[in-house]
Amino acid sequence: MSMQRTLVIIKPDAVERGLIGEIIARFEKKGFRIRGLKMIRLNRELAEKLYDIHRGKPFFEELIKFIMSGPIVAMILEGSSAIEVVRNMIGPTDGRKAPPGTIRGDYSLDIKMNIIHAADSLERAKYEISLLFKEDEIL
Ligand code: CMP
Repeated sequence: MSMQRTLVIIKPDAVERGLIGEIIARFEKKGFRIRGLKMIRLNRELAEKLYDIHRGKPFFEELIKFIMSGPIVAMILEGSSAIEVVRNMIGPTDGRKAPPGTIRGDYSLDIKMNIIHAADSLERAKYEISLLFKEDEIL
């Protein structure tokens, strides 16, 4: 598989719990290069664009409120097969079901407050990166 870029978000629960450093360290130790990194707070417009594919689902509104509830850390990671490898490192959505050793498995006990988000395809990665980063913020 070729070099890919993906978008990762450290969610408000992880920022609040002081897990930013531990999470970034895992990706750096794995060998990913950080091409963009920022701490921001999402407004409703951006939050709804980020989660547009979940619009209409029963948890949509609480998801939007959660992701806007505090600062997040957004980053662009680059590496071989980044989309798949990062998704494997974060684990399944529900922290209770995520295996130990995955980020959600180690730090989350919840399906909504699940610590971290990562794009699930190349198309989504491109879309999410373009939402959160300007051209000159990508190095
Ligand atoms: P994420 O990978 O960012 O993608 C969509 C998010 O919706 C997911 O992580 C969770 O934070 C949230 N989510 C998914 N399913 C549920 C659910 N059943 N109830 C509440 N939140 C959910």
